[in-house]
Amino acid sequence: MYNSQNLIGLILYGHLNIANHYSLVCSVCYLYFVIWNFTRLMQTTITQLFNIQHPIIQAGMVWCSGWRLAAAVSNAGGLGLIGAGSMSADLLREHIQKCKAATDKPFGVNLPLLYAHIDQHIQVLLDEQVKIVFTSAGNPATYTSKFKAAGMVVIHVVSSTKFALKAQQAGVDAVVAEGFEAGGHNGREETTTMCLIPAVAAAVNIPVIAAGGIGSGRAMLAAFALGASGVQVGSAFAVSAESSAHELFKKRVIETTEGETILTLKKLTPVRLIKNTFYEQVQQAETTCASADELKTILSKGRSKKGIFEGDLNEGELEIGQVSAQLKSIRSAAEIVQEIMSEFEAVKKSL
Ligand SMILES: Cc1cc2nc3c(=O)[nH]c(=O)nc-3n(C[C@H](O)[C@H](O)[C@H](O)COP(=O)(O)O)c2cc1C
Repeated sequence: MYNSQNLIGLILYGHLNIANHYSLVCSVCYLYFVIWNFTRLMQTTITQLFNIQHPIIQAGMVWCSGWRLAAAVSNAGGLGLIGAGSMSADLLREHIQKCKAATDKPFGVNLPLLYAHIDQHIQVLLDEQVKIVFTSAGNPATYTSKFKAAGMVVIHVVSSTKFALKAQQAGVDAVVAEGFEAGGHNGREETTTMCLIPAVAAAVNIPVIAAGGIGSGRAMLAAFALGASGVQVGSAFAVSAESSAHELFKKRVIETTEGETILTLKKLTPVRLIKNTFYEQVQQAETTCASADELKTILSKGRSKKGIFEGDLNEGELEIGQVSAQLKSIRSAAEIVQEIMSEFEAVKKSL
């Protein structure tokens, strides 16, 4: 990216300086290159696709990512997403309108496709002329053409190369490839981010956004080395100051140590969460070979709302990723974006 351009600037400067002619012109040329390179910092296919400054997408997350978080991330130069998964259609409309009022930067909506009132949610997106939609948990072939016809940029979340190819076939603009480490609902394949990203990047010819285990500049740099041109960050923003998660949930997450999260409910809908009483109930049911319906009954008691939004640390479903062990404090969304970007630049230079 900008390193090669800097080099051209330096070579130009050096050659012309040796000749000792036009030194003023050379200096101006060099300055031009430096400024040009600086303003082009971190341009990727993802920053271009969304017209954003940094290739950081804040994941849509049930009970965490309302308009406050989405607007804060977008204002910080990333892409904020409103998580429609825990909202009624009316509430989603309200959040989109508030987000529009809070930022003039691009933002989007995460839409899990398997939800009961999906048609109402889609109507809200169309009415409100939302420009970017991240779909997940469902078949991208069902709605992508409708979104594209409305002029939207469409991204689909996948957990395998097979699903990435299906999404590409459905006409999406990019895929989020989400690895096993990720918080929330996840693929059955259990493919880690380290293995998933290069496989997906080699298979598709659309941009790849890496997700799962990314909460630092180092991790973002690794994702780029693996073939991603943007990252989707969930857990780190779930415990940001602007997240609508309960303070007790945030505190529990930043106290989480390595090995405390697990991917469970694989029979029904795999989800990574912090082990607690609810998890033990699921575990007990699974070891006694409970049917999918019995598991649904355990889950249907509004567990994610209870855990994440109401802060019931025992009976609630505490969705979070493995990266939680690295999260040590509650920071603003802008601080998270800035820290990721500055660590990314510093580590890249040090390699
Ligand atoms: C609390 C929580 C809620 C989530 N809810 C959703 C959701 O509603 N829709 C979705 O597509 N993904 C959801 N996810 C997954 C994220 O969108 C994202 O892909 C994932 O968190 C990335 O991995 P990380 O947690 O390691 O950063 C959720 C994740 C968390 C932690």
